[in-house]
Amino acid sequence: MLNFVYFNPTKVYFGKNILDKLPKELSKYGKKVLFVYGQSSIKRIGLYDRIIDLLKDFEIIEHGGVKPNPVLTHTREGIKKAKEHKVDVILAVGGGSVIDEAKAIAIGALSDRDVWDYFEGKAIVEKALPIITVLTMVGTGSEMNSGFVITNEEKKAKFGFRAEPVFPKVSFLDPTLTFTIPPDQTAYGAVDAFTHVSEVYWNKTNPDVDITNGIMESIMKSIVKWSKVAVLEPGNYRARAELMWCSSLALSGITWCGVGGLSLPAHMIEHSLSALYDIAHGAGLAIVTPGWMKYMKEKRKTTLLQFAKNVFSKDSVDEGILAFENWLKEIGCPTRLSEVNIPEKDIPEIAKNAYELAKVWNMAEEYPVETIEEILKLCL
Ligand code: NZQ
Ligand code: ZN
Repeated sequence: MLNFVYFNPTKVYFGKNILDKLPKELSKYGKKVLFVYGQSSIKRIGLYDRIIDLLKDFEIIEHGGVKPNPVLTHTREGIKKAKEHKVDVILAVGGGSVIDEAKAIAIGALSDRDVWDYFEGKAIVEKALPIITVLTMVGTGSEMNSGFVITNEEKKAKFGFRAEPVFPKVSFLDPTLTFTIPPDQTAYGAVDAFTHVSEVYWNKTNPDVDITNGIMESIMKSIVKWSKVAVLEPGNYRARAELMWCSSLALSGITWCGVGGLSLPAHMIEHSLSALYDIAHGAGLAIVTPGWMKYMKEKRKTTLLQFAKNVFSKDSVDEGILAFENWLKEIGCPTRLSEVNIPEKDIPEIAKNAYELAKVWNMAEEYPVETIEEILKLCL
């Protein structure tokens, strides 16, 4: 087992009827709350009214309208509000996009620098406002990790990184709040959570750690099983609960213990698809990941075979890739660039864009532009 540091300070309330605890948890951090939410879903499902009611003893400053694939301009507006009103704590109610924007606001609110400097590695995050989350969309794991991703529209760059100060202090995970997620978003979230595990599984430098492998395999198998149920039966509590907890664990750090290897190459390439074409992150992953697997068939033979055997009960790498693709299709994901109308002629531009992130994520050596282009050609 390789050396590791494991740290995850987020307190989790999981289950039905847990939101009653929200005021008590929020009050530990102050009375002025920046309430961050997305476009319309929390109003549609009645959650907005519930939150306003729960927060009647707090001063609320609203910051709604966070876009899926959140953008820097809206983040900067949130930072301005947080500074002007001197808020004490941020409440993020929504999916990964809302939580990610809240994290960037939490950093910007306590800094004199422009927040994008941190994304480009020009400054180190030392502090952030406390964040509490109420999760409504399953997939990113942002509710229980220190990562976040923002798109700089001007630079067409979708960058993300991790910073300890933005771990949510408390996250509320009520699976009933996810009954309304439509089948396509349910599938994209499942693929996102799955690949948070599988990318580590395939790229680990030490394939022989029973405990961590077992955790990873169990998460991947559960996601495959319960995603199929959730897309057909949106109100199935067991399916929503299993997916929700799998997703939170998937990127919580628990799967990195002892196996080494933290690279997420399909994620690195996908971020360019969602930056340039504004497609859902999980949809982009469903397209890029099989292409990456095909390209890496020989180089990652050991871990891809381990994956085929232990996750899909198949005897060869090729059969494992096919089984994975069949699952993606079964839950309704696109698996080719053409299905989201991205033409072959765009590949050089996508690869160039992805290479910028490869440099920031220290992956440039293994993934020069030409390699990224080859992988993308296998996604046509
Ligand atoms: O904007 P609203 O109206 O709220 O609608 C959202 C959005 O359209 C809707 N939705 C959310 N909860 C719902 C619901 N619809 C019905 N019922 C509900 N209960 O779902 C749509 C997608 O939401 P979004 O938050 O964008 O999705 P997701 O959670 O997948 O987040 C995606 C973002 O997170 C980043 C992605 O790149 C992308 O920008 N990631 C963040 C990571 C992290 N922080 O660790 C890691 C990931 O790899 C990922 O990169
Ligand atoms: Zn992801």
